[in-house]
Amino acid sequence: MKINPNLLSKINLLAKGEFDPFYIYESQKIRQNCRVFHDIPYKNKAIHFATMANINNEFLKIVNEEKINVFVNSLIHMEAVQKAGFTDEQIIFTSSALSEKTMRKIHSAGAQLNLDSPRQFDIWQKLYSDQKVGIRCNIGDKVEPYSTRAGFFIGKQSRLGFTVDELKNMDNKHIIKGLHLYAGTDIFDLEYFLACYNELIELSFLFPNIEYLNFGGGFGVSEDGETNFDVYTYGLKVSELMQKASEMHKKNLKLILEPGRIIGGIAGHFVAYITDIKKRDNQILAGLNASTTQFSRPLLYPDTANHPALIIRNEEILNSDKKYLTTIFGSSTYSRDIFCANRNLPELKIGDVVVFGNGGSYSASSYTEFLGFMKPQEIFF
Ligand SMILES: Cc1ncc(COP(=O)(O)O)c(C=O)c1O
Repeated sequence: MKINPNLLSKINLLAKGEFDPFYIYESQKIRQNCRVFHDIPYKNKAIHFATMANINNEFLKIVNEEKINVFVNSLIHMEAVQKAGFTDEQIIFTSSALSEKTMRKIHSAGAQLNLDSPRQFDIWQKLYSDQKVGIRCNIGDKVEPYSTRAGFFIGKQSRLGFTVDELKNMDNKHIIKGLHLYAGTDIFDLEYFLACYNELIELSFLFPNIEYLNFGGGFGVSEDGETNFDVYTYGLKVSELMQKASEMHKKNLKLILEPGRIIGGIAGHFVAYITDIKKRDNQILAGLNASTTQFSRPLLYPDTANHPALIIRNEEILNSDKKYLTTIFGSSTYSRDIFCANRNLPELKIGDVVVFGNGGSYSASSYTEFLGFMKPQEIFF
């Protein structure tokens, strides 16, 4: 993992003595990751950051300053974005199994809602008769669905959205103003995105009053935190697609995207220090003054989350040709409190500072009180 000298000196200032674990974000990188979406040539578009990736107030303010809107999936997140200064029309709410009470709150907040099922559509009509609304679509097996990091988001194995048959058979199609699709997460395969979008466009002809197509997020970030999905090439292709769809519909359709991970992923780092070393026959076990409940991607995705680790000793990055098989574990009794397993790392010592990269998305936001560790401070520079 590469780290710029500015970030290194910031970490060195903060990681002194017996410091508490913290997150540090490079604000400029968050801003750059927002700006690439504005560069998508298609004009009639709105970009909504998916707040499950990061719900920190300062993070949200940066996103807002960059003229990116938000997508939320819960009332608590809706309150958080309102507190951060987002206006009603900047908020999209997409979720599943909403109660009437929740639906009423979303409606009175003025957020744009995408419903998840025929039953949700019935509730909507009971409450608001023929007020226009969006729906989430499961384009099913019209493409060969992928299992991405968190399983299937489309196809028979996904629980989400209206099935193609449900879409075809629904009454009152004139109420539908937008279609929503989320193909999966951490995708690098441009052709897959486009194949899914084409299917959604085909379905859009079922709905005479369609105004927008929401293609969701899912833009990949490499596990080593070095590479983001190529939004530039994607932007050219998706613009072409939207242009054609608009021509076919004879109206200027709005493109909506909901990037999550890619906005902050490589901009964030989690920092802690080594408090214990156990030498075992086959490897070194190194303990941190932190728990994966504070940096939760390795806890949620133990098989696939693989954050790069950089070691700082005496304020310098530790580089050594000699590497040892090392597992870094957390400061609890939970057997799965493991930050990374079987890594080839330089020989660690007590007090070494460990910096995990690719920590800006789904990391601080998935903090859990399980095991009793404090929520780490999040620092922006
Ligand atoms: C509906 C929807 N849109 C957007 C996102 C953001 O996805 P990603 O972080 O993969 O870009 C999610 C994440 O789960 C989602 O469920």
